[in-house]
Amino acid sequence: MKKSSLVVRTDKVQNVRSEMIYGQFIEHFHRQIYGGVFDPQSPFADEDGFRTDVLEAMRRIKVPILRWPGGCFVSSYHWKKAVGPVRTPFFDKAWRLEDPNTFGTEEYVKLCRKVGCEPYICTNAGTGTAEEMSDWLEYCNLEDEGEYAKLRIANGYKEPFGVHYWSIGNENYGWWEIGAKDSKEWARLVLESAKMMKHVDPAAQLSAAALSDTDWNVNLLQAAGQHLDWISLHSYWNLMPNENTFATYTQSMACTEDLEKDIRKARGLLMAFGLEKRIKIAFDEWNLRGWHHPGVHTIEQAVDKKDYITPRDKNDRNQDYTMADAVFSACFLNTLNRNSDIVGMANFAPVVNTRGMIFTWDGGIVLRSTYHVFDLYVNYMGDEILESSLAGAERMDVRSKEGREVCVDALDVLATRRSQDGLLAVAAINKLPEEAQEITVSAADLMHSEQKYREFRILTVNGDSTESFNDIGHEGVTLSEGEWRPLADGMAEAVLAPHSVNVIQIR
Ligand code: AHR
Repeated sequence: MKKSSLVVRTDKVQNVRSEMIYGQFIEHFHRQIYGGVFDPQSPFADEDGFRTDVLEAMRRIKVPILRWPGGCFVSSYHWKKAVGPVRTPFFDKAWRLEDPNTFGTEEYVKLCRKVGCEPYICTNAGTGTAEEMSDWLEYCNLEDEGEYAKLRIANGYKEPFGVHYWSIGNENYGWWEIGAKDSKEWARLVLESAKMMKHVDPAAQLSAAALSDTDWNVNLLQAAGQHLDWISLHSYWNLMPNENTFATYTQSMACTEDLEKDIRKARGLLMAFGLEKRIKIAFDEWNLRGWHHPGVHTIEQAVDKKDYITPRDKNDRNQDYTMADAVFSACFLNTLNRNSDIVGMANFAPVVNTRGMIFTWDGGIVLRSTYHVFDLYVNYMGDEILESSLAGAERMDVRSKEGREVCVDALDVLATRRSQDGLLAVAAINKLPEEAQEITVSAADLMHSEQKYREFRILTVNGDSTESFNDIGHEGVTLSEGEWRPLADGMAEAVLAPHSVNVIQIR
């Protein structure tokens, strides 16, 4: 059995991660909102129409922040038609179907209050204007000054909503995006929008759609950097907009080859501008699996609904979300934690249905494999990122979905400590599809060598095979507790099962 040893330097705190790296995203796409979290006809619905089983599942993973309403949806969305007692259905030009507008800003803020998370609104920088964005801030955050705060009060909401996080635009660099812009147009729009938004609420935290691409970010940071608190990055690794063809387990492991790439490039640009202390990265859409929506993100739009609406149901096949999703997601969470000095927020895309971690059906919900990874990280890992060194780590040769030979680490580890009580928690991901690995963990506190660790605990997210999944009436992936066993002084050792995500807690 492959063996490695990890030394954790408990006297070396690299940084303290924000809980917001465990954020989520929800979009007006397919069944994420209507039929997902918002389903007034459901027997699980509460008095406001929200699925109480979904709310409970979101609370259990302590969702810290929820980005809404898009995504591509937002680039032709007008928020004013979705507030107050009269809602005007509109044709969603992004996803090409009618949205009833019965879920708008007021419902979204209620949802965030029920979940206990921060709202994070992405504005329309496609067809929208700086004025429409700043009017939205007036509506949400001003006490009673002006037309929109008074409109909110007239709609029955006397107190401001206090929406602190805002993003200017979504992927406006993309040819697929409504109202897409070149880098210079984008820089000017972000500058003018940020100015107006900060004039309404100087305390608002503003992000803007960014890329790891140099030209786009250089123009953006040169023009608007002094008004921004964040830049937004997105990544999906297994893109399937038109063909719903899943990367296999080993092909998904190939995607872990360089998970830091985009963060590294964005960090370099922020440092080049001397902005790395003031602007953080919001990785506010990420998922191994890109969403399936044929006939839309294309030059030639599909004509028949059976060719572009019906196929969206293929996102709902629970058997497609396996240990590949869980292991990949854990590797990316390790990457986000390691870079949490500059990554201050991340949002899994999406939280409910489509490729999300919570699936809804008439009789309840299914917690897909990645849900249990978030449960493990949010509830069992620490917030202080500790320096550590790994010896004897194995590598694995895999082939990407495109057929490229790739060599990746077979073991991905992250050492943390819980600042509130000093508990050590090491995430150890065994990416090998068939072989177990043994890891020995020692905690070296060179400053206080008398510190000894006694109690050992291992929690694991896994299934019988790389293809294990959860579905209605079928639980193939669980979060379970391993055997407790005595330790040599200050040492812990564990056997990591194939394709498993583990947290070793040491007290
Ligand atoms: O596939 C869904 C889309 O992915 C989101 O709407 C957009 O932000 C990203 O391109």
